[in-house]
Amino acid sequence: MRKLIFLIALLAMATMLAACGGSGNDPAAPAAQAPAATTGGNAANGQALFSQSVLAGNAGCTTCHSLEPGKALVGPSMAGIGARAAAAVPGQSAEEYLHQSIVDTNAFLAKGCNAANPEAQCVAGIMPQDWPQKLTEQEIDDLVAYLLTLK
Ligand code: HEC
Repeated sequence: MRKLIFLIALLAMATMLAACGGSGNDPAAPAAQAPAATTGGNAANGQALFSQSVLAGNAGCTTCHSLEPGKALVGPSMAGIGARAAAAVPGQSAEEYLHQSIVDTNAFLAKGCNAANPEAQCVAGIMPQDWPQKLTEQEIDDLVAYLLTLK
């Protein structure tokens, strides 16, 4: 049921975005695309993947990443990641940063793994390194699309 509500909310958002951005100049533009218009990812599917405690034989995202602000499990909380991702690495868009965070986890080490010291950098090599082998590119895009909705 919550998924259904989430889906409806996403659709409403997508429709609103399309209504704002379009200005009627391109009526043929696909209005019903997923919310993170740039990735081609499906955020609802990304949420379903994210929520699994075991994903493709690895510990699932949700095992290490809470959705509660400031709550560090093993990795940083994902609350607000869609908003802060764009500022993480100069020159990288939110989407690029999130994609890289999944496929090349040590390229940039985030903060927020230690609730007592939120400014401390996380340790390398804790997040599984083999997502590119375990997930399809579409699944990774879906996860990115979902994370982008966490504003
Ligand atoms: C075993 C624990 C673990 C699992 C499982 C895990 N992560 Fe992580 N993740 C971490 C740690 C630790 C970091 C911080 C170090 C770093 O930046 O690589 C991190 C960092 C991240 C970041 C950057 C966070 C930020 O604040 O900038 C993202 C995004 C992310 N993970 C997404 C995911 C997704 C999506 C999955 C599931 C496909 C996942 N993680 C699975 C431990 C985990």
